[in-house]
Amino acid sequence: MADGIYRFPEGFLWGTATAAHHVEGHMNNSWSHWEAMETGAVFKKQKNGRACEWWDGRWVEDFDRMQYLGHNTHRLSVEWSRIQPEPDKIDESALQKYREMLEGLQKRGMRPMVTLHHFTNPMWLENEGGWLANSTVDRFIKFTEMVVDALGDLNDFWCTFNEPMVYAVQAYLVAMFYPGKRNPFKMYRCAELMLRAHAGAYQIIKSRYPNALVGVAKHLLKIDPLPPKIVNGLPIKLVESVFHRAFIEAMVTGELRLPLRKTVVIPNLAGTYDYAGLNFYQRYRGGFAPLSPKTFFLKQVPDDESPPSPPMWGEIYPQGTFERINYIWNVMRKPIYITETGTPDEGDNVRPWYIARMVHSVWQAINFNVPVRGIYYWTLLDNFEWTAGYNPQFRFGLYATNFETQERTIRQSGEFFREISLANGLSSEMVRKYVPQLEEKLFPGSHGQREVKLPSRG
Ligand code: BGC
Repeated sequence: MADGIYRFPEGFLWGTATAAHHVEGHMNNSWSHWEAMETGAVFKKQKNGRACEWWDGRWVEDFDRMQYLGHNTHRLSVEWSRIQPEPDKIDESALQKYREMLEGLQKRGMRPMVTLHHFTNPMWLENEGGWLANSTVDRFIKFTEMVVDALGDLNDFWCTFNEPMVYAVQAYLVAMFYPGKRNPFKMYRCAELMLRAHAGAYQIIKSRYPNALVGVAKHLLKIDPLPPKIVNGLPIKLVESVFHRAFIEAMVTGELRLPLRKTVVIPNLAGTYDYAGLNFYQRYRGGFAPLSPKTFFLKQVPDDESPPSPPMWGEIYPQGTFERINYIWNVMRKPIYITETGTPDEGDNVRPWYIARMVHSVWQAINFNVPVRGIYYWTLLDNFEWTAGYNPQFRFGLYATNFETQERTIRQSGEFFREISLANGLSSEMVRKYVPQLEEKLFPGSHGQREVKLPSRG
């Protein structure tokens, strides 16, 4: 019996994404500081601790796992506080370790993508004023220079900032990340400084390696207002313009436009991206909830079909990937990488469904001629999850991690994503095997096809 397949273009990148604070362990940065603070807002006051022990060398076995998954890429981040533990000190051994990791990826046939900033800062930087101090822009550019000079021969794919607006909001508007401020103008300032830092970092990387690809990973929610639009539509527009549009539009035009603030022109910013990175996870359908800062001031009314999601996560809505890809494409008009996408699901009841719908949604975009070039699944293995710490409700891995023994066990969804990666496509056979309830939706008629019986000759 023939199988249907949603085939992806040749050379499509399949991989997972991780970041230093999630997996390395033994951290001494703004986040470990936050974990130790009374106001630190982490689930059960948990500490990052050993995390997944990558810094102790366990990355080797985990890179083997990525290879087993048939991946040709992996996105990881380098930790600023390790590389520059003090303002005037560079730790060459940390850079050396990252070199080994990048070589480890290449040896296993995976193209690395390196993120320079994924939510953490050295404490000395925070003490200088963090992302509110002008000097941080220069600090970040110098840090970039250091990293690119040390690793640039092994990596040509850079993400300067992971989710800059999420960081700005969490750190300066809703007090969920260090330094725990609640001031919209501080949030604006943080976003502006990150844009300035990005522009400088872009120039540095390109001056050394003109062919390198540089961009940011932009987090987008899907937001669908419910009636009455007059009440819900307008506030949602505000959320859209501040959280979604402002940062990426500034990368296009060089001008940062935010409500209640004069337009800021940022020199050398316009056009500083070779690709658009999209992190997409969830939808909020409903209305404005002025008393719910932790859900981006959005109330959640999920669709009947949507699976249950942990508190404050929003609605698990992988079908929305297509629309969000189109959104970022319309603003940025450069090749797109899904730099993160995934779902929390310890029991692995929802993840196979999520993967099938997400992959199908990306395929749809490609078939509308949007140049999507790769998918980085969040994430390889269960790890430390910011304010959720090690809360079992927030397990994102294709592999389950036992944090006592450091044992990893592949989930069904890991096997499923592996088959997709190896086949460079999503087939009806895979869907039948891992998410039979979706077969008729994704491959309509395939049941019928199986039932066709040709009359026997004679
Ligand atoms: C972040 C990751 C995080 C993931 C799941 C993204 O917003 O970049 O660091 O773990 O979401 O919450």
